[in-house]
Amino acid sequence: MTDLERRLPRREDLRPYLRLKRREGDRVARRLARAHTIWDLRAIAKRRTPAGPFDYTDGAADAEVGMHRAREAFQDIELRPGILRDVETADMSTAVLGKRSALPFGLAPTGFTRMMHAAGERAVVAAAARAGIPYALSTVGTTSIEQVAATAPHARKWFQLYLWKDRELSLELISNARAAGYEALIVTVDVPAGGNRLRDLRHGMTIPPQLTARTFLDASYRFEWWFNLLTTEPYRFAFDKSGEGDLADVAGKLYDPTVTFEDLAWIRSAWDGPLIIKGIQTVADAHRVMDHGADGVVVSNHGGRQLDRAPVPLHLLPEIVDAIGDRGTVMLDTGIMHGGDIVAALALGADLALVGRAYLYGLMAGGEAGVARAIEILASEVERTMKLLGVTSTDELERDHVRLMTRRSPVVPAGARRFETSGFPS
Ligand code: GLV
Repeated sequence: MTDLERRLPRREDLRPYLRLKRREGDRVARRLARAHTIWDLRAIAKRRTPAGPFDYTDGAADAEVGMHRAREAFQDIELRPGILRDVETADMSTAVLGKRSALPFGLAPTGFTRMMHAAGERAVVAAAARAGIPYALSTVGTTSIEQVAATAPHARKWFQLYLWKDRELSLELISNARAAGYEALIVTVDVPAGGNRLRDLRHGMTIPPQLTARTFLDASYRFEWWFNLLTTEPYRFAFDKSGEGDLADVAGKLYDPTVTFEDLAWIRSAWDGPLIIKGIQTVADAHRVMDHGADGVVVSNHGGRQLDRAPVPLHLLPEIVDAIGDRGTVMLDTGIMHGGDIVAALALGADLALVGRAYLYGLMAGGEAGVARAIEILASEVERTMKLLGVTSTDELERDHVRLMTRRSPVVPAGARRFETSGFPS
């Protein structure tokens, strides 16, 4: 055995180890710089946000199986690289609805976004604009259509509409969105009833959270969050131009059990721009919405927040792309926590991925800068994954780059009539 030859350290020997880093940036920037993954942002978000709003975002319906399966589906894929390609640069942009998005993902519509952080939707649209990616404002967003447009006049903005029987309100929203320069309408169709959000029930969650003795005493209620809430203007819902709507109204409107494909038909006649239907979970329904004049779909199970154990969007994606990909746009959401997930969705035929929780964790972790950090993390993961796969543009991504694998397989034997293709009774 060789012995270590020892000597006393000299000052110049120590110098390389003692380069103390100067503290750079402000407090928020330093906090965000310590996050290297969306999961890191989630951990910061959890420390900084009251448990009610955090769990509203983080949670899903019932046993949250749908959300976990969606994430597991991304973890289970095998990525299959091509080697020895020149990948000095990777063009991450992608075409969606006839224009390019600088990155292959957009920011999904999320309700009550000011509850996660007082800066809310305005922070999100501003970060999307800077990144050159689309942002979809939710009908139950907490900032008006006009305020979002004024915050980022040049952003690519889409408006998400719940399919409601209330034609008057829907038509008003459609016309406000058009007047404010929104490009596409995304109509959500998976909410005939509310998902059973057990975490919210257990917290006694209200929107906005109430200042009660219980919340005061609850150590999870964060001072800075409350200070921001109480020193900024009260929430105003995106659908509520007059500012007079109350929360009971929202709850009553959100889930309309009576809507059908006929309602889709009149929405189609009221909106002449791109019409995207969100919440498609079977091939038969994808065909059907296209037959009713849609320009595309979002394959989504609403982040696992509606019907628990609904189909895993990533597994359904190739079938939907094969069925309607030549007729319209196909986007995918639910479960995306890494840029590699986005690359996989594109390789399996999606035109664009949408992320929801991923940017909300950023928002809760650090307002607008946190959303920007989430976008930056995902973008760097997309770029690295593309290069490691041996591709230099999103157009080069193809199915062979991904092998879908699953810890479970359908009980229906291969070749049997599948649930997806047999369609639902109307
Ligand atoms: C709203 O769309 C939600 O899922 O909470």
